[in-house]
Amino acid sequence: MAKGGHLLRVSKPDTRKMKPMQHILLDTDIGVDDALAIILALNSPELKVEAITSVSGNVHVDLCTRNLLMTLEAMRVREYPICAKGESQPLIKPLVTAAHVHGSDGLGDVTRLLTTDGSRLYPDPEPQLAAMAAVDLIIDLAGQYPDELILVPVGPLTNIAKAMIKHPARMRRVREIVLMGGAFETYGNVTTTAEFNIFADPHAAQLVLDFGVPITMVPLDVTHQVILTGKRLDAEIGERDDRLSQFLRDATRATMEYHQSHERFYGTYIHDALPIGLLTSPEFFETVEAFVQVETSGDLTQGMTIADLRSERPRPKPNARVCVRVHAEAFLRHFFDRILR
Ligand code: BDR
Ligand code: CA
Repeated sequence: MAKGGHLLRVSKPDTRKMKPMQHILLDTDIGVDDALAIILALNSPELKVEAITSVSGNVHVDLCTRNLLMTLEAMRVREYPICAKGESQPLIKPLVTAAHVHGSDGLGDVTRLLTTDGSRLYPDPEPQLAAMAAVDLIIDLAGQYPDELILVPVGPLTNIAKAMIKHPARMRRVREIVLMGGAFETYGNVTTTAEFNIFADPHAAQLVLDFGVPITMVPLDVTHQVILTGKRLDAEIGERDDRLSQFLRDATRATMEYHQSHERFYGTYIHDALPIGLLTSPEFFETVEAFVQVETSGDLTQGMTIADLRSERPRPKPNARVCVRVHAEAFLRHFFDRILR
């Protein structure tokens, strides 16, 4: 669905200056593509991942938190970033999940896989969590890194919105928010009009857009341009048989099967990896400025992101940058080079 014409739009490569080290906090509802984003972020030397916070979304936050630790375990991470458990319920509406896409455990049902001796191939990791809850950790880090911290939310925006409500002064010192969410000139993936992260907590999304911190949105329009096929994953992994390669195959299998039966390709989108790529390799992306609003109440349109991306029309002052294009193959090459390094 095209929400308005786009022929005269003026988009340009994102030319943000790459800083030697960017301090990020990844806020995530760890499903399959979130796990890939975590791996990419932790393997990106331009980023210092100060913390990873979980939030309910793809599955309940209890499972998301376990999936976070399981992903770190599969990576054999030597130094764990600070991890904290986040909010279990959206601000106002009841929780909706996407277990039908990500598996009932959120990680492609890897928790059901057994070894030859009958034990779990991916056992529950030791909980290694911060004593404080995600919202407080976000506020704390915003205070520790004033004007430096970049928030990268790749799930519903509940934790971020609650942190803004609880400590607006600290949160105004967040440098930027680079999020995965929204659908502008394309169909949604939950309803015809809404993308999952925004649909799951539209009130949080609107609050975050209204808050005034610089925001860049990476919507479905762009993430649907990058497809990780099963064939490509196999080819890139090749003969490797390390734990991470095994995890990549196991965690992506169910969602690839889902896309085979629903979208006729054996593969998956890697939505949440794209904001990480935008931070480390902005030259692969194009963005436009826009005034973005979220439909919070429509019966048919709740969670819809609305913006006029045409350049020739007068419009309100922009409150976000919206990513409109990605060089898909360049990004995929970069993605594999980093996650399989
Ligand atoms: C978003 O929804 C979730 O299912 C994915 O992890 C991604 O963050 C895509 O709409
Ligand atoms: Ca996600």
